Amino acid sequence: LPHQIFPGRLNSAGVDLADPLLRRPLLAHLDELATLCWEAEPTALAGEPGQAAEIRSPYDNSKVVGTIRNASAAEVAFAAERAAKAQPGWNALGGAERAALLEKAADAFEAHTPEFLSLCQREAGKSLVDAVLELREAVDFLRYYAAEARAHFGEGRPLPGPTGESNRLTLHGRGVFVTISPWNFPLAIFIGMASAALAAGNAVLAKPAEQTPLIAALAVRLCHEAGIPDDVLQLVPGDGAVGALLTARPEVAGVAFTGSTETARAINRALAQRDGPIAALIAETGGQNAMIVDSSALPEQVTRDVVASAFQSAGQRCSALRVLYLQDDVYDGMLEMIRGAFEALVIGDPQALTTDVGPVIDAEAKAALDQHIAAMKAAGRPVWQRELPADCAKGTFVAPTIIEIEAIGDLSRENFGPVLHVARFKGDELEAVIEAINATGFGLTLGLHSRIDATRRLVEAKARVGNFYVNRNQIGAVVESQPFGGEGLSGTGPKAGGPHYLPRFATERVTCIDT
Ligand code: SER
Repeated sequence: LPHQIFPGRLNSAGVDLADPLLRRPLLAHLDELATLCWEAEPTALAGEPGQAAEIRSPYDNSKVVGTIRNASAAEVAFAAERAAKAQPGWNALGGAERAALLEKAADAFEAHTPEFLSLCQREAGKSLVDAVLELREAVDFLRYYAAEARAHFGEGRPLPGPTGESNRLTLHGRGVFVTISPWNFPLAIFIGMASAALAAGNAVLAKPAEQTPLIAALAVRLCHEAGIPDDVLQLVPGDGAVGALLTARPEVAGVAFTGSTETARAINRALAQRDGPIAALIAETGGQNAMIVDSSALPEQVTRDVVASAFQSAGQRCSALRVLYLQDDVYDGMLEMIRGAFEALVIGDPQALTTDVGPVIDAEAKAALDQHIAAMKAAGRPVWQRELPADCAKGTFVAPTIIEIEAIGDLSRENFGPVLHVARFKGDELEAVIEAINATGFGLTLGLHSRIDATRRLVEAKARVGNFYVNRNQIGAVVESQPFGGEGLSGTGPKAGGPHYLPRFATERVTCIDT
């Protein structure tokens, strides 16, 4: 039987959108929330206020979701000082009491399901299905890290004392942690990193992505209402400059970051150059994720899983499929089926229940993707592209695209959107394909569709990736069941939602008592 670490602990059930008795009132509630104008500001206010920014919907840039007041330099400093003062008391509470507060926050999140779903749609452009999955994951992180804190941040672990002394290993918060989170999981990753740091006994300065601060502000407000003190968890909204001010603070003992490899490197350099403790960096970055499909695979299953992996969430998942390798002898038939399903994708307003592919997050993301597609066309690659419905001109949409390439090495960077590349390989080239995938330096997700055990074993042994998915799609890792994170250019580890995550936010202490 699979090992159940916390018997009886269950992940969130989410909302069953297929049940009309649940769906109808939810949709009515979302309609009411569709015009609400949200406002948020930093938790700690000091001196002259920082700049305000309007947040607009990616699917309709004329719609204002709300206003965020970003943190000023004085507020960053004040927040760091408050956090440093508050952290020892929070750490002294112990894992069980912190866990109880995180679980109360999880209940409050579920009680505010419509508000979170509405913000996921309006602020981040997520489909309703994706919004439900996002809230589930956020709740799962809170409850899972609470369970981990209860289990490992109490009395500690007794160690052998062969010469008569008693030895004990305990875990404690490192101090002040900065979390810097991305817009593509504006709730789940935001609260996942913050709750892990909190569970381990740290005070947290949480900087959400500048595109999605409003949903983060609601999450922080509910955590405060659940009893997590407002100097222990502080929202510090702003752009990269605010991130740089935060990581430069001498109070900071660790940074948890999810975003681009380039920014992770910049944070690493900044941490190395400042005063204060030698800070821990936990970084989850990008991927150049592939899927290998051999001629033993089931075509219908492959089609379903390729389309989900490449185009769900408009391809804006770090786990998403970027390069599909199809074996030569099934290449044409398989590509035709995939293109058939691709032609049927519904593109448009993510608030419509039938929408499969919504917008990308902003104009900068759209420009980078459109430029990549144009360069591929100019290079003479075969390209299939969907036509965007006229309505999409209101927002930042990228037409879903399939591009044939020779090999993964033809791509110079990750293309974070609804663009799938397809390459061909011969049966005797499998090892060369794995080497080419490894040679990108990324190592996040890899998919394989094959009914041949020896092939699965070979890929498993040779591929350097964090999450390897066989005969299924390669997105949507589930907390506790599929801890998530990569290696190499894809991040430092440990895996979010896994048993090794919390200890990295902690420091270890040994107490040795002689008789
Ligand atoms: N954890 C997400 C997934 O598995 C990606 O960030 O899709």
